Amino acid sequence: MDQKLVSPKESLYARLFARFYDRFMNRIETTTLFERRKQLIRPLKGKVLEIGSGTGINFPLYGSEADVLAIEPSSAMMDKAKEKITSFQSNSDHGTIRTELLGIGDPALESLVPPKSMDAVIFTLVLCTIPDPESAIRFAKSRLKKGGKVLILEHVRASSRAGRYLQNIINPLWTKFAQGCNLNRDPESILKSEGFRTVTEEHFQNTLPFYYAIYELI
Ligand SMILES: C[S@@+](CC[C@H](N)C(=O)[O-])C[C@H]1O[C@@H](n2cnc3c(N)ncnc32)[C@H](O)[C@@H]1O
Repeated sequence: MDQKLVSPKESLYARLFARFYDRFMNRIETTTLFERRKQLIRPLKGKVLEIGSGTGINFPLYGSEADVLAIEPSSAMMDKAKEKITSFQSNSDHGTIRTELLGIGDPALESLVPPKSMDAVIFTLVLCTIPDPESAIRFAKSRLKKGGKVLILEHVRASSRAGRYLQNIINPLWTKFAQGCNLNRDPESILKSEGFRTVTEEHFQNTLPFYYAIYELI
């Protein structure tokens, strides 16, 4: 039996979260994030692994030279993403996108994505939610070819002490509201401790502190 036809049933809240996610994010996407997504994704060529693709907001941005494998463990999110693929798949300007209902930590990923096989791995607004961001970044590193890129667009831990204090107070409630999302993660430190070369990076603010970066495996 095809596993994808029997996606696990998620909670009503998870399904509502997926249904309204794009609408909830619309303002911050239009003012701040979507332009940066374009800058990260449009130039991509070759084999790309997108981690936690959510509702597929990045999918229309892949150019024709990108061959994308997108993994996402939530079937409610994946359903929304598949609607997006259907809306542009007849257009040859877009890259090919294959989806798998899997997340970091799933043993099936080990054989699905061979070591040193990817030209790029992309994380957007996902290292906040993945239960173990260190192992997600180590997985990305092990799957990249030499010279391959990690692309990041994430909201992150505040730089000021007061900001971090506030984030730590709000975080337990926020995590429940936002399906496991954490306000106080620091992916930059993880990437730097893994020995990647920083190609470009930017810290910016829009309600939350954000981090945009490209790293290269040396
Ligand atoms: C806030 S959404 C962001 C989605 C999308 N990347 C974006 O840029 O809008 C976070 C996503 O991470 C996914 N996620 C949670 N645990 C994960 C895991 N272990 N591996 C991969 N993705 C995961 C969630 O299902 C959710 O779709």
